[in-house]
Amino acid sequence: MTDLLSVSGLSVFYGAKAQAVEDVSFAVGQGAVVALLGANGAGKTSIMKAVAGLIPVRGSIRFDGEDVTALPTRERVRRGIVYVPEGREIVGNMTVRENLVLGGYHLGGRERRTRSETVLDLFPEIANKADRAAWRLSGGEQQMLAIGRGLMAGPRLLLLDEPSLGLAPMLVRRVFDRLGAIRKETGLAIMLVEQNLAMTMRICDELHFLRGGQLVGHRSAEALRDSAARQEAIDAYLGAASAA
Ligand SMILES: Nc1ncnc2c1ncn2[C@@H]1O[C@H](COP(=O)(O)OP(=O)(O)OP(=O)(O)O)[C@@H](O)[C@H]1O
Ligand SMILES: [Mg+2]
Repeated sequence: MTDLLSVSGLSVFYGAKAQAVEDVSFAVGQGAVVALLGANGAGKTSIMKAVAGLIPVRGSIRFDGEDVTALPTRERVRRGIVYVPEGREIVGNMTVRENLVLGGYHLGGRERRTRSETVLDLFPEIANKADRAAWRLSGGEQQMLAIGRGLMAGPRLLLLDEPSLGLAPMLVRRVFDRLGAIRKETGLAIMLVEQNLAMTMRICDELHFLRGGQLVGHRSAEALRDSAARQEAIDAYLGAASAA
């Protein structure tokens, strides 16, 4: 079966000299969850933005068997590539429901309403706050809203940039468990950027390790079930700072 996403020889430059991503290649299978791990500045967000079509790139990005490298973001969204940025970026002075509607801006009114009800069913924590201003949500609830807004677009590939950022471990667990359930129900594929290996293991099938803009290692989640193997990967690819 063709991979859902296939990235090859991807490079990202900011200005003439600053290369943030260098010759990166990887694939995300249909319905798979693939994680990208690396320290601050390793190039994780740059890769996500490249796949979403938010920054210019060199190399090729294929989605569902077609070359999408030159397509604008809105066309990639239409095909099912949806990016949930790090730091959430929800609109604080709009209500929870209005934020959701934003994620489905390209849908007809009825479809948008049906889908926002489905999303609210998935996240009961925010469902009973649907008419509240989004800034009044807790950090974890805001993350659920950001993911919910992404789901409104009807993604086939969800690009999640550090969904655990700034959340207590218990909340991260809840968000990840919810994502696992959504994935089982819908066959959604997920590309996940994280710094925390242990938490990422809860949901992903494979992991790529990124350092200085280059992919330096690859493991299946299965291979990292064993704690010694996990420690070995941390030492080899992430360094002591990411051992938590
Ligand atoms: N808009 C930009 N202009 C110039 N340089 C940038 C820009 N965005 C990122 N960079 C640089 O590109 C490199 C990779 O950044 P990127 O945001 O992709 O890293 P990251 O792995 O997502 O880091 P973090 O974990 O801190 O989010 C860094 O050296 C960063 O300083
Ligand atoms: Mg980042």
